[in-house]
Amino acid sequence: MLNGKLHLAPITAKPQNVLDIATGTGIWAIEFADLHPSAFVIANDLSPVQPGLVPPNVVFEVDDANEEWTYSRKFDLIHCRQHHSAIEERRLFEQSFHFLKPGGWLEMQELGNPIRSDDSSLSPDSALHQWSNNLLDATRRINQATDKPQHYASWMREAGFVNVQMREYKWPTNTWPKRQKEKMMGMWNLENVLDGLHGFTMGLFTRVLGWSPESVEVLLMDVRKDLYNRRIHAYWPM
Ligand SMILES: C[S@@+](CC[C@H](N)C(=O)[O-])C[C@H]1O[C@@H](n2cnc3c(N)ncnc32)[C@H](O)[C@@H]1O
Repeated sequence: MLNGKLHLAPITAKPQNVLDIATGTGIWAIEFADLHPSAFVIANDLSPVQPGLVPPNVVFEVDDANEEWTYSRKFDLIHCRQHHSAIEERRLFEQSFHFLKPGGWLEMQELGNPIRSDDSSLSPDSALHQWSNNLLDATRRINQATDKPQHYASWMREAGFVNVQMREYKWPTNTWPKRQKEKMMGMWNLENVLDGLHGFTMGLFTRVLGWSPESVEVLLMDVRKDLYNRRIHAYWPM
């Protein structure tokens, strides 16, 4: 999506301290540490799933980013990609502001809901549309709405940030776009969504919305068909 760049924030050439929140596999932190030998990268996550063989300038910490941060240093860059509403953003922005050096940057890269299309090819009656709207509804009910990235810029300003910029990208549902780059992104996205679909639907639909597991399975069968359907020109705003 970013043509191979790891971030868009115009950080200094030799950043010293960098924090990656909700690092997951740690891939971003490892690549950043490799590219910037000057930097010391702290990367946290609730789960210790990161590899052991990593560059010497990256350290992984098990931490809950929703708790009060206790870092003994301030950062040039704080990065958080795809936490998917697991972290309460306004608090995250306030804590980030506090733990950035003057002139430091916070960069969020996050996916929004609901899924959209610009040419009405995503019908409101489609399983995909219904799934996306119900998912958003469920996340709203548990106060972890997945449409919050649209508010990030104003929440960042409220937290004290200046020079806030928002860039919007599109993640196609499959290979429907004409251009090669978007086609490729659609291919990866389809793979990613199909892999996680059951996992990130079942709990929300049964425990929050009260659906039976059987009716979720039935919906997901049609959602998968829509996800493969190249006549549906849908995308996630990113
Ligand atoms: C989709 S993955 C992130 C992937 C990673 N940032 C990347 O871009 O490659 C979301 C991660 O958020 C982590 N997470 C969820 N809640 C968290 C919290 N409160 N504090 C820290 N990490 C959290 C999960 O354990 C999971 O690894």
